[in-house]
Amino acid sequence: MQNRNILVTGACGQLGRELRRLADVYGISGRFVFTDIVQGEDGIFELDMTDKEAVLAAVKDGNIGIVVNCAAYTNVDKAEEDETAAASVNCDAVRNLAEACRENSSLLIHVSTDYVFDGNACVPYTEDAETAPANAYGRTKLAGEKAVEESGCKAIIIRTAWLYSPCGKNFVKTMLKLTGERDSLKVVYDQVGTPTCAADLASAILAIIADGNAENKTGIYHYTDEGVCSWYDFAVAVNELAGHDCAVGPCRSEEYPSKALRPHYSVLDKRKIKSAFGLSIPHWRESLKNCIGILSDNNI
Ligand SMILES: NC(=O)c1ccc[n+]([C@@H]2O[C@H](COP(=O)([O-])OP(=O)(O)OC[C@H]3O[C@@H](n4cnc5c(N)ncnc54)[C@H](OP(=O)(O)O)[C@@H]3O)[C@@H](O)[C@H]2O)c1
Repeated sequence: MQNRNILVTGACGQLGRELRRLADVYGISGRFVFTDIVQGEDGIFELDMTDKEAVLAAVKDGNIGIVVNCAAYTNVDKAEEDETAAASVNCDAVRNLAEACRENSSLLIHVSTDYVFDGNACVPYTEDAETAPANAYGRTKLAGEKAVEESGCKAIIIRTAWLYSPCGKNFVKTMLKLTGERDSLKVVYDQVGTPTCAADLASAILAIIADGNAENKTGIYHYTDEGVCSWYDFAVAVNELAGHDCAVGPCRSEEYPSKALRPHYSVLDKRKIKSAFGLSIPHWRESLKNCIGILSDNNI
C-alpha cells in the first residue's frame, strides 16, 4: 500500500459522502480518488463500475492500493421488479472491481448488508452464520460477496445495516418529515436491527485503512452502531429528539405491505471487527442525536 492511492466508488452516496468529509482526519498517507457514476460534484471523477475496462484502467493507471466500494443499487423494493439491474451493480460491477484489485494487488474494502440473512434468528448474526436472503436486493448483494471471494483478490467485506446520514433518502429524514407534519403515525415494530450512522461506518473504514495491516486481516466483518431496536423504536427516537409531538404507534409488517420482504431480525454481531481493529462503536441513539442536530442546524 506504500505510496499508493485510495479509490472510493459511490462517493456521492450516503457512505461515500461521509468518507469524503472525514478522509483527512486519519492522517492516511495515500491520495483519495473519489468517483461515482456521474461527475456532477466538485472533486468527483466519473466511474461507472459496470464498465469493466474503465474500472481496470482506473485501478491500474491511478496506482490504486485500496479500493473502497460504497457504490450499490440500494432501492430494495425496486430491486424486486428489476433484479437484473440490481445484480448488474451489486454483483457484476463488484466482480469488475474485485478482478481489477486482484490484477493490481490492491485491497478491496467492499460494503454489504444484513439483508443477506433471512431474519429468522433471535441472537446476533456472526460472520459465519448461514446466509439466506429474503429479497432480490439481498440476493444480489450476497452474489456480490461471492464474486469478491471467488476473484481471489485481497478483500475485507463489511456487512452493515439501516444506514442513514444527513444526506440522501433515508428513514431518519422520512420520519423527521412525517412526525413534523402528522398528528399520528404507525411504524413496524416486528423488524428489529440496529441503525447505523454513515459517519460512524466511514470512520470505521478509515480506521481500517489507517491500521496499516488490513491486508493481513482479510475476510467478512460486521459493523453497525451499538444497540438494538425496532423501526418503531427508531421512529419514536426521531420524534423525541426532533421535539415533535406526533403520536407514533407500533404496527405489524403485514399492516405496512411492501414489495420486498424484510428480515424480522437482523442484528449483527460486531465482536470480530472491534477486536481486529480496536474499534470503539457509538450507540445508535447518540449518533442519531448528532445527525438530527446537524439536520436542524442546517434547517434540512
Ligand atoms: N442504505 C442502507 O440502509 C444500507 C443498509 C445496508 C447496507 N448498505 C450498503 O452500504 C453501502 C452504501 O450504501 P449507501 O446508502 O451509501 O448507498 P447510496 O446512498 O444509494 O449510494 C450509492 C451510490 O452508488 C452510485 N452508483 C450506482 N450505480 C453505480 C455504478 N454503476 N457505478 C458507480 N456508482 C454507482 C449511486 O449513484 P445513483 O444514486 O446515481 O444511483 C450512489 O451515488 C452499499 O453497499 C449498500 O448496499 C446500505
